Amino acid sequence: MTHWSGARTFIAAATVAFGLLYLGGAIHAAAALAAYGFLLIVVLARAAIAGETRPVRVAGASGEKRATPLGSGPSLTILDRLPDPLIVLDGAGRVLLRNSAAEPLVVKQAVGKHVATVLRNAPLISCIESVLKGGPACSVEYTLPVPIERHFNAFVTPIETESAGPGPRKNFLVLVLLHDLTEAKRVESMRVDFVANASHELKTPLASLSGFIDTLSGHAKDDPEAREKFLGIMSDQAQRMRRLIDDLLSLSRIELREHVLPDQLVSLQGVVEDVMDALTPIARDSGVELVASAPATLPPVRGERDELAQIIQNLVDNALRYAQSGKRIEIGLSRETKGSRDVVRLTVRDFGPGIAREHIPRLTERFYRVDAATSRARGGTGLGLAIVKHIVNRHQGTLSIESEIGKGTTFLVQIPVAESGQGAPAGPSEEADDATAQNDASASVQAAQ
Ligand SMILES: Nc1ncnc2c1ncn2[C@@H]1O[C@H](COP(=O)(O)OP(=O)(O)OP(=O)(O)O)[C@@H](O)[C@H]1O
Ligand SMILES: [Mg+2]
Repeated sequence: MTHWSGARTFIAAATVAFGLLYLGGAIHAAAALAAYGFLLIVVLARAAIAGETRPVRVAGASGEKRATPLGSGPSLTILDRLPDPLIVLDGAGRVLLRNSAAEPLVVKQAVGKHVATVLRNAPLISCIESVLKGGPACSVEYTLPVPIERHFNAFVTPIETESAGPGPRKNFLVLVLLHDLTEAKRVESMRVDFVANASHELKTPLASLSGFIDTLSGHAKDDPEAREKFLGIMSDQAQRMRRLIDDLLSLSRIELREHVLPDQLVSLQGVVEDVMDALTPIARDSGVELVASAPATLPPVRGERDELAQIIQNLVDNALRYAQSGKRIEIGLSRETKGSRDVVRLTVRDFGPGIAREHIPRLTERFYRVDAATSRARGGTGLGLAIVKHIVNRHQGTLSIESEIGKGTTFLVQIPVAESGQGAPAGPSEEADDATAQNDASASVQAAQ
């Protein structure tokens, strides 16, 4: 290994040695000077070929001081800070250094070892080997199955350097630059699933509609009774398609505005009252008691009234659809202090069959249903809770679900209380300004059979 510092030491030692020999009278002055000059030329020439090859700290790699032909200081720091993993190999295929981002893939002890023992992926190794043999740059996509499946694109390129690296091919390095594709692949697979699910949900009623159109224009043409029946089914299917399209549009509208904080002051009591008015007759027809309770006054939240109504409506609608057997649905409002922030808690509780634990984390995924057939039969599209989640996110709130098989389910939404001076009243019907007064006495908003 040639270092400038080594050259200086060598020159100093040679000077001293020749000086001593000359002083001791062992050699003639002219011969001593000639020999010394020759040695000096050799050392300087090697230093010039090697370029700047001072010992440097390979940040993020072994942490030890080692010579590298990449230079020192800023150039290495830049490589080390790159967000993508980078591995540098010498001309013999040994790991010379790797940056911090490569730490999870290439252990510290790998520095100095042959790359084939470090990156155990056949297509990647054959790409590296072809570059080591003088081939052009190549790139490979590969998957690391453990510990968590990750996908990478590896770009392998040869580099001719002016400085001399270690190994037999001193002026040749190989760069292996990895790009993590895991997140992009996940998003792509979600997009594909979404399109597949949405088209499947639309295709089913569409197939039914075109089937009935054929029947009505064929053998049922002159059968008024069958016509009446089929038209009823067709109307249901058309409604289902409309509902699905409305839900999809609603979801994409909410997603588009998810980062925009709502700016109205909304009293959740008022919203609960409106939802109760709309759903009580439906609950009554299904033999379900719909009950709401709330403190006489609650502070307003900063929100968008229609979206907050959509949360309550979707949760009560689900309870009516899937937990009718429990015969009772409770809507609760209360105030709670969570650490440094005040929140309004909204709970929708039913006493139905409950939801098995393994389904709970997935309920807010689009089109996820515990039992797709039951949901479809009850007019569900599997988007309701996804919409709820996005509205809650937009309101900087939280959603949690607790359920016990055979006992029922509670959906809990917490929305931060509006700080004083925030937002504008939601509309003339809102008593939001009055609602800021505190009173913890509980009162029933409305109870209905
Ligand atoms: N209260 C509940 N009790 C039991 N299961 C429930 C309850 N609420 C939701 N679920 C389950 O969660 C699934 C997802 O609910 P979500 O509201 O997202 O969709 P959906 O009701 O099927 O359709 P949509 O609301 O879009 O019309 C439902 O299909 C149902 O299986
Ligand atoms: Mg629903």
